[in-house]
Amino acid sequence: KKIVAIVPAAGIGSRMGAELPKQYLKIADKPILSLTLHLLLTHPRVERVIVALHPQDSYFSSLAEASHPKLESVIGGDERADSVLACLNRVDDDYWAMVHDAARPCLTHNDIDKLIDSLALFPQGAILASPVRDTMKRGDKQGRIEQTVCREQLWHALTPQLFPVTSLRDNLAKALMLKVNITDEASAMEWAGVAPGLVTGRADNIKITHPDDLRLAELFLSHGEPNS
Ligand code: CTP
Ligand code: MG
Repeated sequence: KKIVAIVPAAGIGSRMGAELPKQYLKIADKPILSLTLHLLLTHPRVERVIVALHPQDSYFSSLAEASHPKLESVIGGDERADSVLACLNRVDDDYWAMVHDAARPCLTHNDIDKLIDSLALFPQGAILASPVRDTMKRGDKQGRIEQTVCREQLWHALTPQLFPVTSLRDNLAKALMLKVNITDEASAMEWAGVAPGLVTGRADNIKITHPDDLRLAELFLSHGEPNS
C-alpha cells in the first residue's frame, strides 16, 4: 500500500493559551511538531508526509525537519477538516491517507504498524482508539447525573486515522459543503455510511490540549518505547 501521512498543524491552540501555537511549544527541548513529523518521516511504511500550516505561520521553516525530502507543506483552512482536505488535494488517488494530529507527539511506530496491518480486517479504513476506562455519566444542565452510560462499547477516538484518499476526500468535501459537524476523519466516513474499524492503540497517545498535557507528554516520551 502507498501511504501518505497527513498532519493538520494549522490550528492556533486557543485552549492552551500560550504565546505560540501549541504545536511549536517545546517538550524536552524539541518543538512538538518536530517530534510528530520525525516519528512519521522515519517510519519505513510512510512514503510521504504532508503538513498543513496556518497562513501566517512563521515558525515551520526553522524546524530541523522542514527540508526533509519526504515532507511537503500546504496552507490549511478555517477548520481541521479544511486543513486535511488541502493536504488530500495534493495526493494521487492510489494512496491511503493516514491523518495524524500535529499535537500527538507520543504516537509509536508499533501503533502505526498495528493500524496499517488492521486494513486486512477493515478494508474500508480504521482508526486508533482506546477503550474508555472510567464509569461514564451523562449529566444534565445543572451538573447532576442523568444517567450512567454503559462503558462496554465506548472508545476514545485517537489518531492516526487511515482511509483511502478518494473516499476520504469525497466524504470530507461533501460533509463540509453541507456543514455537517465533522470532528475527525472517521466521522466523515460514518456520515457516508462506512463503519471504520477500531484498533486498540496506546492510551498515552494523548492530544496536547491544555498546559498540564505538556508535562504528561514529556513523561510519556521519556518512558515510552523509543521510535527509531
Ligand atoms: N488544526 C488544523 N487546522 C485547523 C484547526 C486545527 O490543522 N483549522 C490542527 C491543529 O493544529 C491540531 C489538530 O488539528 O494539530 C487538532 O486540533 P486541536 O487539538 O483542536 O488544535 P487547535 O485547534 O490548535 O487547538 P484549540 O482547539 O484549543 O484552539
Ligand atoms: Mg481546535
